[in-house]
Amino acid sequence: IPPSVTPDTALTAASGQVDLGGGTVGKALVYNGTLPGPNFVVRRGDAVAVPFTNNLDAETTVHWHGLIVPTAEDGQPHEAIAPNGTHTYAFTVKQRAGMSWYHPHPHLATASQVAYGLAGGFIIRDSVEDALSVPSEAYEVPLVIRDANVDKAGNLSYNGKASGFTGNIALVNGTRDAALEVDQTWYRFRILIGSNSRLFNLTLSNGATFRLIGNDGGLLPTAVDVPAMELSPGERVDVLVDCSGLAATQTVGLVDTNSGWPLLRLTGSGKPGGLGAVATVPAAGEGLSSDGPTFGDIAPVTTRLFSFDGMTRINGVVYDMALNSFNVPAGDVEDWVFRTNGNAPHPVHVHGASFKVMSRDGGRRRLFPWEEGWKDTVLLHDRETVTVRLRFDSGYKGRYLLHCHKLEHEDAGMMLNFTVV
Ligand code: C2O
Ligand code: CU
Ligand code: CU
Repeated sequence: IPPSVTPDTALTAASGQVDLGGGTVGKALVYNGTLPGPNFVVRRGDAVAVPFTNNLDAETTVHWHGLIVPTAEDGQPHEAIAPNGTHTYAFTVKQRAGMSWYHPHPHLATASQVAYGLAGGFIIRDSVEDALSVPSEAYEVPLVIRDANVDKAGNLSYNGKASGFTGNIALVNGTRDAALEVDQTWYRFRILIGSNSRLFNLTLSNGATFRLIGNDGGLLPTAVDVPAMELSPGERVDVLVDCSGLAATQTVGLVDTNSGWPLLRLTGSGKPGGLGAVATVPAAGEGLSSDGPTFGDIAPVTTRLFSFDGMTRINGVVYDMALNSFNVPAGDVEDWVFRTNGNAPHPVHVHGASFKVMSRDGGRRRLFPWEEGWKDTVLLHDRETVTVRLRFDSGYKGRYLLHCHKLEHEDAGMMLNFTVV
């Protein structure tokens, strides 16, 4: 479990060795020496000031995925930090509780830097969440789920192409064959899909459901029980899992049914819950939060269409750092329509605002419970058209990005700049 740190903790990117479980692996890239990096825990309203040092031999940035921050602090490719360079990322956390994350975003090298290990969690708390009866302390566990490739020499390796990257092992919090001893109570798992390309379909091996309470942008309006969740790179879910019936040494697995990989083995300790356990958790169907999107019923001023073409283009154009594709008036409600003519999945991600997913036509033809509330990344499969509604109302103006979060597509050009004016 990555260490929890405060919002003034210094961050350093460097190359190094890591133990992924079963011995040391070379050629890793790490934040503060660990893979994943430390987990920032902040409160809404906090001032973040993270002094960052780039000890890599290439340029990098730190992008705060899901956090709404000024352009200059957003870690965009335009704000690259040279080797041995520094920058203090400073912004105020204005948004509601939820789990975001941070990762590099340098021009043409995001995919490889993430594949070699650079990423970490970022959890925001607030008073709405405080009022809920949910597990905390030892019973609230962040899970950064991804795949990685280990070569014959025992080093991390990266062989991504525009078509994608598939590693040969699964890592949960940087460990293969991850295991957790669990007391007889409810657990809260804060799941981040930190893979480059791979989709995960999460299930529990005993057929139990997850009680889903949150996603990218924080708490859902109501809790809902789901048996499986197909999630793509960049997406987050907040789930409660009932371990109260698990006898000593009995196990339940968190399993990816796409690959068949067991991701995490939960083994009963036989002990009742201690500090941080709760007597009851929100029931399925119970209301959690009403501070969600308020513009879902407002008719859009503008509708924009984005076609995710092939593996390298949006609306026929390969990413050009110097090109501003369009301007968005601050405060306007807009509908953005994402469609593809093949080569999906495309997890579509927007910087600078959260959105509400309005509809999905074609393909799976429905919205899923983890697509309620606020999102910043939404999965587009082949033949699907997904409409999201958004409003840039943070008060920040300037350049932000729209891109495919399959990082190989992003680096190959499936990205654009737009400007909030
Ligand atoms: Cu997580 Cu622009 O990315
Ligand atoms: Cu982002
Ligand atoms: Cu894509």
